[in-house]
Amino acid sequence: MREYMPLLIAGAVIGFFAAGFIVLWLAVRRREEVRSSDRNMADGEILRRLSRYARPYWKQFALALALVIVSLAYSLASPALVGRVEELIKADFPLKRLWTLVTAYALLLAVSMVCTYFQTVLLQKVGQKILSDLRQDLFTHIESLSHAQLNAIPVGKLVTRVTNDTNAISMMFTNILVNMVRNVFILLGVLGAMLLVNYALTLMVLCFLPLLVLFTVIFRQLTRRAYRRVKDCTTDINTYLSENLSGIKITQVFNREQAKMDDFLAKSGALRRARQQQMCVFAVFRPMVYMLYITSVMCLFYVGSRGYIRDTAFLGQTITSGTVVTFYLYISKFFDPIQMLAEQFNMLQSAFASAEKIFAVFDMAPSLTDEPDAVELDHVEGDIVFEDVWFAYEPGEWVLKGVSFHVSARQTVALVGSTGSGKSTILSLLCRNYDIQKGRILLDGIDIRHIKISSLRRHFGQMLQDVFLFSGTIRSNIVLREDRFTDEQIWQACRYVNADRFIGRLDGGLDEQVRERGNNFSAGQRQLISFARTVLHRPAVMILDEATANIDTETELLIQSSLEKMKNIGTMLIVAHRLSTIQHADNIILLSHGQILEQGTHQQLLHERGTYYKLYMLQYESQTEDKTAV
Ligand SMILES: Nc1ncnc2c1ncn2[C@@H]1O[C@H](COP(=O)(O)OP(=O)(O)O)[C@@H](O)[C@H]1O
Ligand SMILES: [Mg+2]
Repeated sequence: MREYMPLLIAGAVIGFFAAGFIVLWLAVRRREEVRSSDRNMADGEILRRLSRYARPYWKQFALALALVIVSLAYSLASPALVGRVEELIKADFPLKRLWTLVTAYALLLAVSMVCTYFQTVLLQKVGQKILSDLRQDLFTHIESLSHAQLNAIPVGKLVTRVTNDTNAISMMFTNILVNMVRNVFILLGVLGAMLLVNYALTLMVLCFLPLLVLFTVIFRQLTRRAYRRVKDCTTDINTYLSENLSGIKITQVFNREQAKMDDFLAKSGALRRARQQQMCVFAVFRPMVYMLYITSVMCLFYVGSRGYIRDTAFLGQTITSGTVVTFYLYISKFFDPIQMLAEQFNMLQSAFASAEKIFAVFDMAPSLTDEPDAVELDHVEGDIVFEDVWFAYEPGEWVLKGVSFHVSARQTVALVGSTGSGKSTILSLLCRNYDIQKGRILLDGIDIRHIKISSLRRHFGQMLQDVFLFSGTIRSNIVLREDRFTDEQIWQACRYVNADRFIGRLDGGLDEQVRERGNNFSAGQRQLISFARTVLHRPAVMILDEATANIDTETELLIQSSLEKMKNIGTMLIVAHRLSTIQHADNIILLSHGQILEQGTHQQLLHERGTYYKLYMLQYESQTEDKTAV
């Protein structure tokens, strides 16, 4: 019995650590139970949905698996080979047989390395393909969401979904899944090999297994929490960054740098703490597993070295020095995969969490979709009818209350009214950015809900106050990715709206670079570009929403004349604050709080001496004052 005393002491020390670990875990778990889990998709469902992306590449996966299995041979056979070498050395050093063994070892190693290389390359390729498929689907899906849905999600969140989260998933395909399979095989293989070599020693090693399982279970719980927190903090920082980098100029103008910096530091600190926690869990888990490993090796040496280099007996089995060497190598190959499995399981959990977030975006069904029998419109006259239209962005808060009007094809109609009266909303509803709650909107007599959205929008040209230019060239911003236009046509459109002068003065002409959001052009120049864009595409209905607000008087006169010309292209709906711009409209609609107060031509409305008349007089007087002041 005294013989086994050191083994018992080792057991007691480990037991002590284990108990401490359990207490720690219980303390953390109680807090954990209070928070509800944020996962609500079953692992099975996530796997099923993810496997759709992996299925096209099943051949590559099968090949990778085959390579993994071949490379296993080295892990399983090498300890036995080394043990054999040790015994031969101890016996009579037969050089020839030693050479054979060493060659076999080298061959196994080479084959295993080549297999691992090809497996890694193969999986990385497949992983990147899956990643790009997933990213593409996600981007396409986000593009199909309606304005209301897009308004509800911060851009930073979407960026995180398309980048970080898809990356976590690709890790799963390139690394985690295959290595998990590999580690399970190694674990089972090593166990089998150990049993074959010496079952008594195997039993001794297995005594450590329950502790290992316990540590692993606890580790999993702790890391899942840490991973979740890291993920939330990352999304938080991305959302904050994308919003505040877009608005950084405002921050500077209002001297809010310090305040914003403080916000950012708080978020950055949260992420740092979350990451530290994650590290901390690993920092405890890895040494614990290492401790078990070292203890079991020590036990092996204790038991095995009692016979020095002569054979000895343990629990009725003979232990040779070769057995000790072989077991020493097997033990490390036994503990490694368990530790790696635990960590990979966590990465899998993290990938699942990412997958769930991505699928949540996929599950946002586009709220505006084509009806099954929606029609394609090849040609549009541009006859528009609003029939008792009621609309609210938020349920109950009516923005339009029973708006009805008629715009005949090729007419020009102006919408006027104070800020917030619903002018932009009317224009937005026309392109079906939102669906109305009551009433009907007809284009050429067809309810726009019965028209394919893409077909509907193709016939509209929008010129808004905030022109959004994409980074690229002036040309790419005018043609908008359609390559059916010649340079001559583009220049013609530019001349039509008097944009040719400033573009002509640029070094690059049409090929001048446009920076993000077109920030290297003035607001007026951006508007001229958007006019050229519209004229080139010759839509049936043109929408101008305060589109002349940023243009100087001289250019506005030029624009006036081009607007006059543009009237020949099709129906035109104009929102303008300067009433002089819209005097010649065929119909002027005056809105107030989502209702039509007055409508008619400029002369008719002046004649009525209502609100329009008052508005006009106000502007007229201030204009004459301006002139006298000059
Ligand atoms: N995306 C939106 N979500 C919620 N409310 C909105 C949205 N856009 C506009 N509104 C509200 O609708 C009303 C009309 O806005 P709008 O049509 O833009 O007025 P304007 O006549 O100045 O163009 C405003 O009270 C505004 O607060
Ligand atoms: Mg508006």
